[in-house]
Amino acid sequence: MKVICVENEAAVGKEAARLISAMIRLKPDCNLGLATGTTPMTTYNELVRMYKEEGLDFSKVSTFNLDEYIGLDADHPQSYAYFMDEHLLSKVNIKKENTHIPNGKTLRVDRTCSAYDKKIEDRGGLDLQLLGIGRNGHIGFNEPGDKFVAETHQINLTDDTIEANSRFFECEEDVPRTAITTGMRSIMHAGRIVLIATGESKADAVHAMLYGEIIPQVPASLLQLHPEITVIVDRAALAGSSLADSLFSAE
Ligand code: F6R
Repeated sequence: MKVICVENEAAVGKEAARLISAMIRLKPDCNLGLATGTTPMTTYNELVRMYKEEGLDFSKVSTFNLDEYIGLDADHPQSYAYFMDEHLLSKVNIKKENTHIPNGKTLRVDRTCSAYDKKIEDRGGLDLQLLGIGRNGHIGFNEPGDKFVAETHQINLTDDTIEANSRFFECEEDVPRTAITTGMRSIMHAGRIVLIATGESKADAVHAMLYGEIIPQVPASLLQLHPEITVIVDRAALAGSSLADSLFSAE
């Protein structure tokens, strides 16, 4: 695991976008696994800037998002499909047919989940997976539980996730209670993983991911076993870890 600690959110976004753009330049038809939420916004802003100012070409890129709320239409402002359009997909020259997000309005969740895994596998898997991390250590919507789940599946969101994500909704009651999330297999099979985290609310989860036991109660801990993972954090998200002590003690 490589850990890069930078000054602030904007620098996290620049560093993550640098790694993603390198993948796009090396492999123009790459498959990117993407995340939503507050953390990747600076990354997507920087990718859009690179598209506009540096000609970063998305015309052959395919994207697969990690998750979607069950029950929200793609044009619902809080759906992850809407988020992705708003922050990246409608702002670069990616082909609509190359962008994929689990269908939150499906009537056949099981079939939708297995078809999503098959689509990723048929395309040769993900070349790079971008991840955020939940305060409870979730990745995608793989919530803490008794076992790691390999396949894309339906998940009941934990109270902590519902509370954390209520900031995007008018009130907590409006947050969907269930979602579709890709499982650990497509994440762990990605050629490269870039995990980003900012702010002190993530410090405990980042610490448990980096140093904790590999247990399903901290889904992100499984990432310790991935051979090509770069964790990009700001100082606040690293606070309290022994790595932070050694990095910052010289100042
Ligand atoms: C969303 C996702 C989640 C988020 C995590 C952190 O697609 O994969 O795991 O990355 O909940 O969210 P933010 O960045 O909003 O703190």
